[in-house]
Parts: sequence; structure tokens; C-alpha cells
Amino acid sequence: MSLLLTGISELTTNDPAHGDGHARRADPGDALLGIVRDAALVVADGEIAWVGSASEAPDADERRDLGGRAVIPGFVDSHTHLVFAGDRSAEFAARMTGTPYDGGGIAVSVAATRAASDDELRTLVAARVAEMRAQGTTTVEIKSGYGLTLDDELRSLRIARELTPHTTFLGAHVVPREYATDRAAYVDLVTGPMLDAVTADGATSLAASIDVFCEPHSAHAFDGDEARAILTAGRDAGLALRVHGNQLGHGPGVRLACELGARSVDHCTYLDDADVEALAAARGTTVATLLPGVEFSTRSPYPDARRLIDAGVDVALASDCNPGTCYSSSIPFAIALAVREMGMTPAEALHAATAVSGRSLGLDRRVAPGQPAELAVLDAPSHLHLAYRAGVPIVRALEL
Ligand code: NIG
Ligand code: FE
Repeated sequence: MSLLLTGISELTTNDPAHGDGHARRADPGDALLGIVRDAALVVADGEIAWVGSASEAPDADERRDLGGRAVIPGFVDSHTHLVFAGDRSAEFAARMTGTPYDGGGIAVSVAATRAASDDELRTLVAARVAEMRAQGTTTVEIKSGYGLTLDDELRSLRIARELTPHTTFLGAHVVPREYATDRAAYVDLVTGPMLDAVTADGATSLAASIDVFCEPHSAHAFDGDEARAILTAGRDAGLALRVHGNQLGHGPGVRLACELGARSVDHCTYLDDADVEALAAARGTTVATLLPGVEFSTRSPYPDARRLIDAGVDVALASDCNPGTCYSSSIPFAIALAVREMGMTPAEALHAATAVSGRSLGLDRRVAPGQPAELAVLDAPSHLHLAYRAGVPIVRALEL
């Protein structure tokens, strides 16, 4: 069955084949987003079959009129920690009155997650994914990292895998309390038995990537040497690399990620010139994923997206949905913050939360024939309304 979608006031394709030289182009962002105005789409068997101007649309088995709404590629949320139980709202409240974030609260979520049953965890994660879909996110990456025993990391990844192929092994989230006096033994566990178990049935059976919280400014996280050992082991086991880097202060995370060819280095809040140069040189390989919900929820300075984009860095946006630094699953919220606080244009922010975040997961996020029909629809005539109507639930996944 084929379905023709009409009544699309503005279609963001992320495809350079569209948007150039369009007679009614009013915004320089149109070229970046590959915008088609008064557009139509044909979808067949879950794939895009045709994209173009409504006046040239072919016939299809069924038709649906979207009534003058904008359609965008579904958001790709390329950084989340959805597998957790428990509540840390009191920690958030304490931060709002001045207590700084140092990663220590992760232990609270680890204890609650270990204590939860498989079914409790599964229900929690599925509800979070549904909440994201209702806000326009059609693709989600999910990390482990609140288990921190072999069995608890494996079950976290298994539960995540039931909902997405984009799973990330984050056994190196923090050093768990029981290893506090023997950090090296925990790094050995992560790079040995845990990694072996994660990749036992083939390199990417349970996890597509490995991640590490590389943060010398947290007593709980990993320093540059530990992070290098963890990432190198993961790469040797066939996993793609992701890094939490430069979140709480200056450090080695960003340069290490670029050196090792990570797909993404995330946070990038504190960068010196050498970090920016390394990211610019790694363009096409390593994406800088900015997570402004974290700065919002930890009362921290926002990363300077403008500086990165002007230096030629590939910038992505994601939610970092997690119980500690950002319990928001909303990509529209991240877009609004990026535009208001980080110097991104509305077009750059939308591109970052779809095309660039998608690239960091190895995905092509163009709306073009042959691509999966992963789309979102706005109760608004253009993508500008994502940031303009901040906090208003105008975007959701397009159910076909
Ligand atoms: O991305 N920085 C490390 N991990 C998470 C926070 C985890 C937590 O506090 O529970 C982050 O910010
Ligand atoms: Fe994170």
C-alpha cells in the first residue's frame, strides 16, 4: 500500500538536492535543511517513495491531508541513559540552590536500578521511549551504566535492545562504590569480562558502541589514561566509540575522542582552542554532541555552539535524558535552548538534532526515496516554531 501525504506547508528533507534556488527561499537555513514548501510525500512499505512539490505529486493507494503542517525528519536522540529506576528530584532541587554536580548521585541510581526487577525496568524504559516519540523523537540511542556489575550491565543492554538497535555499553560510567579503593580492578572488569560478555554473540550483538565518562573533575569518573584503555578495548572488540568529555571542566576527553576516531564526543562544555582544532580536524568522523538540557538542569554555562560551527565542527544536539543531570526527554526543549542560549540558528539546531545526530549513529537522515519513513509533524507551518513556541507540545512522531 502506498500513502500520499499532502497539505505539507514545509518539508525539511536534510537533502541538498532540495532547497537550493527555490524561488520562495526566505531563510538561509532553507539550503541547510533542504526545504520544500507546499510539499507532498509518498510512503510505501515504511519507506519514502517520492518527495517533491504538491503540484507534481503522483497518485497513491491512499491520501492524507496534513492541513498545512510542517513535516521534519524524526529527531534522532543520540545520547540517552533511559535504563534506570529510582528518583533524584531532591538532588535537582539541591542544585537549584547551589549544590554543584559531581557525578556522586549516579550511585543512587545504580542502587535503585540493581534493586528493580526486569519487568519494572522494562516498563520504565518503554514509557520513556513512548514519551520521546510523543515529542517527535523516532530514533533513540540508549546507554547502560546504572548496573555496573556484569549481570546488571547485560540486562540493561538487553532491555535497551528490545527498543532500539542503537545501544551503548557504558560500564565505565563511574567506578562503583565496591571498587572505590581499587579502580584498576574495575577498569579490568569493564575491559575484560564485561566487554567479553557484551560482545559474546558477535561484536554488536548487545551494544553497537562503547562509551566512557572521561572526567578528571569528578572523583567518580575516569581519567584520560583509564578512558584510553576502555575505548581501545572497545574498539578492538568491534564497537564504535562514544565519549562523555569536557563536561565539568577542561580535560583530555575531547582530544582523546578525536584521536581514537570516536563517532561522537558529548557535552563539550569546556573547550580550549586545541580541543576546537581537534574537533574541526575530525570533521566527518567525530561529531560534537551538545546536550543543553544538562547545563539547564545543573545550572552550568552553556557550550559555545557558535564557536564550534564557525570553526567547521560537526555539531549534534541530543537530550542526555538521565535521572541526574537532565531528566528531560525533550528534543524541542534542547533546540529551544540551543537557539536561545548557544548561538545556533533554528535551522542549524534542527539539522543538529536530525542529520548530524543521525550521522553519529551511522544513519542517513535525509527524507529521500529509499530512506525509512521516520518523520515528525508539527502543529505549525514551519520548523521555526520549534524554538519560537518553546515549551508548547507542537511536535510528535508521524504515525503512518
Ligand atoms: O551524561 N556525566 C555522566 N553521565 C550523565 C549523568 C548521569 C547521572 O548523573 O545519573 C550525563 O550527564
Ligand atoms: Fe550522558
